[in-house]
Amino acid sequence: MLLRQAKTLTEFIIEEQSSFPGATGEFSQLMNDLALAGKIVNREVNKAGLVDILGEAGTENVQGEEVKKLDVFANEQFMAALRSGQECAAVASEEDEDIVAFDGRENAKYLVAMDPLDGSSNIDVNVSIGTIFSIYRRERTGKVTRDEFFKTGKEQIAAGYIIYGSSTMLVYTTGNGVNGFTLDPSIGTFCLSHPNIQSPKGGKIYSINEGNFNRMSAGDQNFVKWCQEVKPEEGRPFSARYIGSLVADFHRNLIKGGIYIYPSTTSAPNGKLRLLYECAPMAFLIEQAGGKASDGKQDIMSIQVEELHQRVPLYTGSSELVDKALSTQ
Ligand code: AHG
Ligand code: MN
Ligand code: MN
Repeated sequence: MLLRQAKTLTEFIIEEQSSFPGATGEFSQLMNDLALAGKIVNREVNKAGLVDILGEAGTENVQGEEVKKLDVFANEQFMAALRSGQECAAVASEEDEDIVAFDGRENAKYLVAMDPLDGSSNIDVNVSIGTIFSIYRRERTGKVTRDEFFKTGKEQIAAGYIIYGSSTMLVYTTGNGVNGFTLDPSIGTFCLSHPNIQSPKGGKIYSINEGNFNRMSAGDQNFVKWCQEVKPEEGRPFSARYIGSLVADFHRNLIKGGIYIYPSTTSAPNGKLRLLYECAPMAFLIEQAGGKASDGKQDIMSIQVEELHQRVPLYTGSSELVDKALSTQ
């Protein structure tokens, strides 16, 4: 029999928080709530292939219950977990037009922004999807207003994602490096598997939806052509890898080195991705791992959120590749 060696997520959080004087355990509880919702969503993601047997989304399943779309289900699970905890005052979610403030939590310390199910076009085809979260500390108490979310990424106190992939991982930062935890399904526990993740300075992977090539700026087209240029002495051409789930594309590039771009296009001048709950948390993570994130003009972390669902272009990944992409603009 193997003896348990890996540190669990719960142990890691408690240890990390105990190094902050005055820590009350509320943040640890909030993280545990997110991890629990992630495990419930994971269970459902694993059953996604059974929808034909259990019922199509929007119809009734064999038990006569309505089958929910997975992104609606994920939103409900994370909302429920955060609502039942004591620590979160309000949530801004991709799935909700406005913020959701929890009754009785007007004095709770934290605000959460989230994309409960990222990569939703991949749900039905058994390809990796994820959840992205971002945590801010409230500056006041009482009824939460949506402008309390109008912050810069620099004000995040934690950010992370859960990737529902060939294994399920939770990766997060509190501004003290990036750590990754793999779910051991046999015990239902996230275990520290990737301590102190560092993004390679360079890389040989570029991730962009090249179907949009003719809608991109000349600068972005030049960068794509540079990635494709045959220059073996400089390690090019690079490999193109694009899953279409930000979490999965980001995770691969974080580990292997590479760049992810969702640029401005003629049909979507601000790109597609949302600042508050997609770009800002990923920017916090990549900076903590030694990489970069920009909208093409400035660091994502410096951009002030002005609308909950505001979009920005995104260039993120290994620092040398982001610098190169920005230099071709
Ligand atoms: P979501 O499923 O939360 O709406 O996000 C989808 C996003 C992101 O995950 C992905 O990188 C991007 O959309 C892919 O967009 P394209 O299909 O336009 O490439
Ligand atoms: Mn998304
Ligand atoms: Mn989503």
